[in-house]
Amino acid sequence: MNITEQKISIEKVKQSKINQVDFDNLSFGSVFADHMLVCDYKDGKWEAPKVVPYQPIVLDPSSKIFHYGQSIFEGMKAYKDVNNDTWLFRPLENQKRLNVSAKRMAIPEIPEDYFMEGLKTLLKVDEQWIPKNEGSSLYIRPFIFATGQGFHASPADEYKFIISCAPSGAYFSGKVKVLIEEKYSRSANGGVGYAKAGGNYAGQFYPTQLAVAKGYNQVIWTDDNTHEYIEEAGAMNIFVRINDTLITGPTSDRILDGITRKSILEIAKDEGITTEVRKITVAEVIAAAKDGSLKEMFGAGTAAVISPIATFGYRDVDYDLPENEDSMATKLKKRITDIQYNKTEDTFGWRY
Ligand code: COI
Repeated sequence: MNITEQKISIEKVKQSKINQVDFDNLSFGSVFADHMLVCDYKDGKWEAPKVVPYQPIVLDPSSKIFHYGQSIFEGMKAYKDVNNDTWLFRPLENQKRLNVSAKRMAIPEIPEDYFMEGLKTLLKVDEQWIPKNEGSSLYIRPFIFATGQGFHASPADEYKFIISCAPSGAYFSGKVKVLIEEKYSRSANGGVGYAKAGGNYAGQFYPTQLAVAKGYNQVIWTDDNTHEYIEEAGAMNIFVRINDTLITGPTSDRILDGITRKSILEIAKDEGITTEVRKITVAEVIAAAKDGSLKEMFGAGTAAVISPIATFGYRDVDYDLPENEDSMATKLKKRITDIQYNKTEDTFGWRY
């Protein structure tokens, strides 16, 4: 049944928490809006979504999420412009990618109208939670996980789709120092690296802890087979600028099809920047750092938008990136956030 025919029920909180939130000092993803969208999958179909007060979820200890990790998510943002209008950025790309992840993790796909109508209904109810301060936004976390029960190692028969929201400031603060990782891998051919599966992120925590203990903030992931190619930066896609060419790796089984990544590629082309989508070797990055042609490296993702890398480490040597007056990271970040916050014309048709 189409969701326009099924009503999305709304149960509002008795008392809003919004007055307890300091919107001038928001961290990332640590306070949550009053409501959430919940939609259950039972008897082979998604039931009507509901907007309910944000609250804990009660689950049976045998729910398959706990044992076999069937869990996927998305990251999106809602922005306020100076007229107090609300904007999303390419939301259908998130809906489609959630279903790409769902398919890989044997989770039932969520129909487009359930996702979009559910999201819009939730955002109307919690509109006051969308920050108006420069650089802040409402981080939106749609996710699906297995609630179905049993220790049998097979896909669950019941799931929950939830959207919860967190008014958020910057993801990173300060200079970002990363370590090129040569032992551990984030993903492998035939694996789940291209999906936003919860376990992909859990698997990064231990190698990242080791890097943090050595004084780095994040890991740069290399390919699992040879460790000769740079693939992602922490939980983000990675871009490298050598001279005036901006390079990022091709999406694959191992590299997430980042919405910020592909938007940056299109904006860069529009700005007349030469771009290359090709494999990047660690060796060429080291050589470019040594001869001065490595101008910039940055991570790109929804949460951090563009996160310039100040220093990278490789085999016990640290390489500092230069400070550029004509930084591509700064230029591209401004253009993408101006589109997101409705400060400039959106010639791409991405604003929603
Ligand atoms: C995002 O950039 O939205 C992500 O999904 C990364 C997340 C781990 C914060």
